[in-house]
Amino acid sequence: MNVLLTGAAGFLGQKLHLPFLNRGHQVLRTDIVPIDCDEPFVQADLSDPQAAKSLTQGVDAMVIAHMSPKNEQDPSRVFTTMGVGTINLFQAAADAGIRKVCLISSVDAVRGYPKDTRRMRSFPPKADELYGLGKASQEHIAEYYARLHGLEVTVLRIGYVIDATTLTNKYDVVEKSFAPNMVDRLDVGEACARCLQRKGKGYEVFYVLGIRENGRFEVEPTWEALDWHPQHLAKPTPMPQIRVKAKNPKGFAQPAT
Ligand SMILES: NC(=O)c1ccc[n+]([C@@H]2O[C@H](COP(=O)([O-])OP(=O)(O)OC[C@H]3O[C@@H](n4cnc5c(N)ncnc54)[C@H](O)[C@@H]3O)[C@@H](O)[C@H]2O)c1
Repeated sequence: MNVLLTGAAGFLGQKLHLPFLNRGHQVLRTDIVPIDCDEPFVQADLSDPQAAKSLTQGVDAMVIAHMSPKNEQDPSRVFTTMGVGTINLFQAAADAGIRKVCLISSVDAVRGYPKDTRRMRSFPPKADELYGLGKASQEHIAEYYARLHGLEVTVLRIGYVIDATTLTNKYDVVEKSFAPNMVDRLDVGEACARCLQRKGKGYEVFYVLGIRENGRFEVEPTWEALDWHPQHLAKPTPMPQIRVKAKNPKGFAQPAT
């Protein structure tokens, strides 16, 4: 499979392609800034529809993993990168006949729900700050192209991305201990690769967080449907043996509909 991967120069993008290469796929990496790498790479600004169009030629599947800086305060710049950049990619994918897309979203896309509400897969995005709004816009675009253009789209609402061996985040800050919402870049890449292997699922949302995730997110379908479990943890931790049957563990409230 030929896979286009955006955000290649970013913290996540530096490792996200590796599980694809391990499976023997070809990966075309792209970013607005150049990188030094051995794999095929194209420098492009995704807010330019022509750039998105030329990137999708000869591609079978796409992983969308670019974003505007989290501290970006200019709403139009956030939307240009995340909203416009994403719609350009989806339109180019639809035109080029690409069927499979994995969108890297964030748990921040659903931060607008009450804190004590367990985040379910079925929750539509609900942001409470600008970055989350950018992610929410990406999810809406993804759902639209799945529903109206028949693309198979998986949205991964991922937790706090770290390098699990050093507990270092994208800002080179070293965390003191492992937290339930953390997830390693290679584990995110593995989840992406598994999504793109799935057949005929239309539009799906999964939460991708560490296995010590504490019930705030509906992660069980990720373990089951993708057969995905984080492998790169800071400390060796046994794989989850229990399947959580309760829909609402630890007293988290169900959403008001
Ligand atoms: N880092 C985290 O903790 C975290 C948590 C949840 C979700 N995510 C998601 O993971 C993805 C990657 O995050 P990251 O931490 O690697 O971000 P990052 O900021 O390190 O990387 C984002 C990349 O997008 C590129 N980009 C920005 N504008 C562009 C444009 N117009 N055209 C092409 N490329 C452009 C940037 O140059 C950058 O390399 C994002 O979608 C983000 O929302 C990250």
